Amino acid sequence: MHGTYGFRRNAQGQACLGNTPLTDLLAQSGLETPVYFYDLDAIANEARSLIAGYGDARHVIAYAVKANSAGSVIRTLAAEGTGADVVSGAELEVAIACGIPAEKIVMSGVAKKDSELDLAISSRVLAIQAESVEELYRIAARARALGRQARVGFRLNPGVEIESHAHISTGHDKAKFGITRADVGRAFEAVDSAGEALLAVGLSTHVGSMLGEVEPYLKSARHVCDVAKARRASRAGLEYVSFGGGFGIDYGTGQAAAPADFGRAAVQLLRAEGLSDLMLVAEPGRSLVGSHGVLVARVVQSKVSVEHRWLMIDAGMNDLLRPALYGAKHRIEPLDSEPSAQEWRVVGPVCESSDDFGAHAIGSQPPAAVVIRDAGAYGFTMASEYNGRALPSEVFVRNGVIAGSSPSSGSAAWIKRRLQA
Ligand code: LLP
Repeated sequence: MHGTYGFRRNAQGQACLGNTPLTDLLAQSGLETPVYFYDLDAIANEARSLIAGYGDARHVIAYAVKANSAGSVIRTLAAEGTGADVVSGAELEVAIACGIPAEKIVMSGVAKKDSELDLAISSRVLAIQAESVEELYRIAARARALGRQARVGFRLNPGVEIESHAHISTGHDKAKFGITRADVGRAFEAVDSAGEALLAVGLSTHVGSMLGEVEPYLKSARHVCDVAKARRASRAGLEYVSFGGGFGIDYGTGQAAAPADFGRAAVQLLRAEGLSDLMLVAEPGRSLVGSHGVLVARVVQSKVSVEHRWLMIDAGMNDLLRPALYGAKHRIEPLDSEPSAQEWRVVGPVCESSDDFGAHAIGSQPPAAVVIRDAGAYGFTMASEYNGRALPSEVFVRNGVIAGSSPSSGSAAWIKRRLQA
């Protein structure tokens, strides 16, 4: 790894990626705020740390593309040897075009359309991870129509409730995701009765996002191992188990377990269960990219009232939805000076009360611009054009210089499309 990378402050207190002030990167980009900046060196390094956690165990880090689908990010991860977890045909096409080999790609999702199944079957992905018995019948029908065999995995719902936001806890029995414990037998029957059309190669689970501890992860992983052992007692063919993604990151309030801790724990569990001949798949999204992206916005207006000191910025919930949708708190700091005690309530321009990023220690005077931290995951990918606001621009930084950018298509494109409608 060359040079310094990651978010930091220089001696003048300016927010930097590596040694380069974000203010300079913004000026060099020639783009208008809001702009997402990503540090590709930090992302590559994050992948290496995680991969190290798996030691010499056979594994695939199937990067959850939904977290950040930028080509520069995926190509960076592909170069480190990762695979991908995709949830649409479009994500599958992007992953393959970025150089991720199909045999390292899993496709998840509760409602994959026939056209998406067809693409996954013809691409010969590692597995289509079925989320219901009914879906298995549909995958078999598509495989027959194409005259091919579909490699399938089951996404198992282990019936585990994790402590996380309700919207991102997915492994309990009332969730729409996965094959429940009661239905596992029927799922295997569906595969075994499909003859040549289906090959059951994997078992997976994903209990939710922002896990801070290894134990809930292991609890659901043990369920996957139990099903794997039962299956192998009667049939051969299983190639992998996946315990999902969901490794948390530090949004500024601390983080107990490091992503690689989950990897080490998974390897140990597989050994203890006598399953270490199986390949281990993980599906992390957030932990690979979240801490290595920021959103830079300018302050449009400040307003001091009895209740609050308000800072109105030019990034809103359409650019970064997490605070409005999950009550998530992202650190917001002045771009060119260290934060100091005086708090401001930072809000966006969108006409919704929930377009509110919360109170942040900014300083006595309103700054010209702010940096919203830890916005590399589920930032741009969840952005919308609500209120006639164009999607934000993105800039990719490698070795302290701009390696590429994806400029916003601007409001002109939005206006044109609306007028055509
Ligand atoms: N595998 C499956 C099947 C998933 O559904 C997800 C995320 C992942 C892997 C990756 O999880 P991660 O490692 O990123 O936690 N928009 C929310 C997070 C939604 C996660 C959806 N599924 C947020 O901004 O917090």
